[in-house]
Amino acid sequence: MKKNSILNARKRFLEIYNKKPDVISLAPGRINIIGEHTDYNLGFVLPAAIDRNIQFLAKRTKNNLVSVWAEFFQESENFVIHDLQVSLTIKWVNYVKGIFWVLEKEGYSLGGLDAFISGDIPLESGLSSSAALEVSVINALNKLFHLSLSREQLARLSQKAENDFVGVSCGLMDQFISVFGRKNTALFLDCETLFYEHVPLPLEEHGLNIVVYDSRIRRELSASDYNKRRLESAAALKSLKTSGVRSFKDVRDGMLEDKKDEMGDILFRRARHVTTENQRVMDAVRVLKKGDFQKLGELLFQSHQSLRYDYEVSCPELDLLYEVGKQFEGCLGARMTGAGFGGSGIALVEETQTEAFINRMKKESEDRQFTSPVFFEVAIGEGANIQ
Ligand code: GLA
Repeated sequence: MKKNSILNARKRFLEIYNKKPDVISLAPGRINIIGEHTDYNLGFVLPAAIDRNIQFLAKRTKNNLVSVWAEFFQESENFVIHDLQVSLTIKWVNYVKGIFWVLEKEGYSLGGLDAFISGDIPLESGLSSSAALEVSVINALNKLFHLSLSREQLARLSQKAENDFVGVSCGLMDQFISVFGRKNTALFLDCETLFYEHVPLPLEEHGLNIVVYDSRIRRELSASDYNKRRLESAAALKSLKTSGVRSFKDVRDGMLEDKKDEMGDILFRRARHVTTENQRVMDAVRVLKKGDFQKLGELLFQSHQSLRYDYEVSCPELDLLYEVGKQFEGCLGARMTGAGFGGSGIALVEETQTEAFINRMKKESEDRQFTSPVFFEVAIGEGANIQ
């Protein structure tokens, strides 16, 4: 995060509370290079942290009251740490409360705070600003209350807060990468064993950019569609278990076809997406280790088609990125990223062609009368840290 933005946040904290913060905690958003809808299926993912963060500044108080100011919304909320209720009207505060809730539940002793949130991750665009908020809060509390949580616990407890307090059944990918991200690398993660490995992503050396395309489509329904996909893939796995498969990672050639009639077309396609996507993540790691970005690009295109036709989580605005990407010479690969049903996509584009690519996308969107999208380039940044 740019120094200015931290300085600015400090200044705002001083203005609001008339004192200095004890802690400044930063946690990044993410793009997912490949491995979509595989995390809750205990498969493989390959996300990368971006150089955009949520920052959480806080100072301990002597009571049990938490006051938080949210710069995005220019509003503040208060709550008592032993009486945590989900707010039905103010969504952002639930991510903060959720972290207090999960830590209290795990038996950690906490106290009151004066706190401030700001950041430069666009909200609700599929770049995991909520996971970044959770991780920035838990990392700050870890420091302020000397909790000695491991990095794995920071990620897992943040996910638990989102699952059990906020009520979104997300997987572990977003919180994990927000904690473990490293500059210029992607992170391979096996969501079952939590084995992970940083894989170099030297975009600059290869004259490449990752362009984020925010379609600005926000689907209210997405949480229920997301949960529906979780249930469908669980049902597909149940069928496969009778052939001795423990997870989608164990599915071998021919097994899916053998079960096709029993599963029916929809579950078959959901299972095919998860199985082939796991394989694409493995392939992506292999080609990245050889520095073969052309091959990586092909895998991104394939992933998009699988999400579009087999998992059915794309939308016309996200499909446009694929269509334009396929035809545009300087684009090596493109796909939707995150949960889908709107949100963002990523394109791997030659640096010299980036502007032309964005212009082409803008024109094609306009021709189709789509909501005006937003584009930005991202660099691969660091995971959560305390300043
Ligand atoms: C959202 C969830 C993640 C993951 C992706 C889809 O970002 O928070 O856990 O399931 O969707 O890959």
